[in-house]
Amino acid sequence: MSDKIKLGVLGCGPRALQMAAITKLMPERFVLTAMSDPDEKALEKGKAKFSEATFFRSSDDLLDKGGVDAVITEIPPSVHTEYVVKALERNIHVLGEIPAVDSIEEGDLLWKKVQESKAMYMCASNPNYRAKTLFGKKLKEMGLLGKIAYIDTEYMHDMRKFTDQWRKTYESCRYCTHSLGPILALTDGEEFTSVSCMSTYDRIGCGRSHNAMAAILHTQNNIVVRFLTAFALPYKGPAHTTRIITDKGIVELRNESARLWLEGLNDFSAENGFLEIPLTPGGATRPSGLKIIDEELFRYASWGHNGSDIYMMEDFADALLNGKPAPIGIREGLAMTLPGIFAAQSAREGGALKKIVYPWSK
Ligand SMILES: NC(=O)c1ccc[n+]([C@@H]2O[C@H](COP(=O)([O-])OP(=O)(O)OC[C@H]3O[C@@H](n4cnc5c(N)ncnc54)[C@H](O)[C@@H]3O)[C@@H](O)[C@H]2O)c1
Repeated sequence: MSDKIKLGVLGCGPRALQMAAITKLMPERFVLTAMSDPDEKALEKGKAKFSEATFFRSSDDLLDKGGVDAVITEIPPSVHTEYVVKALERNIHVLGEIPAVDSIEEGDLLWKKVQESKAMYMCASNPNYRAKTLFGKKLKEMGLLGKIAYIDTEYMHDMRKFTDQWRKTYESCRYCTHSLGPILALTDGEEFTSVSCMSTYDRIGCGRSHNAMAAILHTQNNIVVRFLTAFALPYKGPAHTTRIITDKGIVELRNESARLWLEGLNDFSAENGFLEIPLTPGGATRPSGLKIIDEELFRYASWGHNGSDIYMMEDFADALLNGKPAPIGIREGLAMTLPGIFAAQSAREGGALKKIVYPWSK
């Protein structure tokens, strides 16, 4: 590979256009080389914005003739694995969208294909690069977070007006990477081992299969996580919230702010109350003189998805250009994706406890 990565973007949908635009913000790292989409209208939108790239109706043709070093899979979740595998078989590096796979069988296949390929697979878990996740990791590195006992995490987004057909029946607990990826970044490699999940089904009668799904997950060393997804209930979203309870106190994380009650920081809060830390700009004033405040992170967080897409692309490029291992590899990708697939199985059986089995534990 030369000193810049020739990048192909599979898909010309909204997320593909967003990621292609981000690539162009990093000209020292990437050359946007090719894009693909079977849908003519989507392809035309891509061509209008990124005339320097070569466009293909077929992703197979892009992989064979596009002259790319790496691809990003901005295509529907049902075909992620198919195209990640096709790229890896051609030794083309992949930044694979989340959820990493759509079934347990795909998990087994992808695990095997990543081991066999000379190319790198990185899981595109941008929530792991959100300000709140980097902030949580910083608390941990500084020894302030403590030992995690229990976590509540929620992803609420009222999608009842979205017209895509697949959303009507989608089991929302399968969209778990945005909640579980950031948690797994804080658990020192402790993965989820069992899950029980229940659905409200369409209790409010809005024409969706599930208004909300709630799961309880367990790790091998007894961290308990309650995980809620609600995509068909009234709510101002998308809202991602996580409340972490440890032996040193409580950390509440939102995309835009954190709320802390931690033994190591109580001197900084009035009357020993919760300490509020804005994580994104927007007129927010911030407490001064606090060792946990990171101004660079705060500035970056004003960009799309809290700056997380750029951070992620930077890490992907750094690993590829400098021969480093994938910053978020296949094991991490499957560890944040498969629990949602087992949760859906549990919900179909009325909450039956399911052991979560990973390819590396078979
Ligand atoms: N990480 C995030 O924050 C985030 C945010 C939004 C979407 N996503 C993911 O990005 C992906 C795309 O999202 P979207 O909102 O753009 O979806 P979309 O369904 O609106 O667009 C997908 C596009 O892919 C095209 N397509 C289908 N099969 C293809 C193939 N084999 N090759 C090339 N193109 C193909 C479709 O024609 C469509 O234009 C999804 O997997 C979604 O989960 C991630």
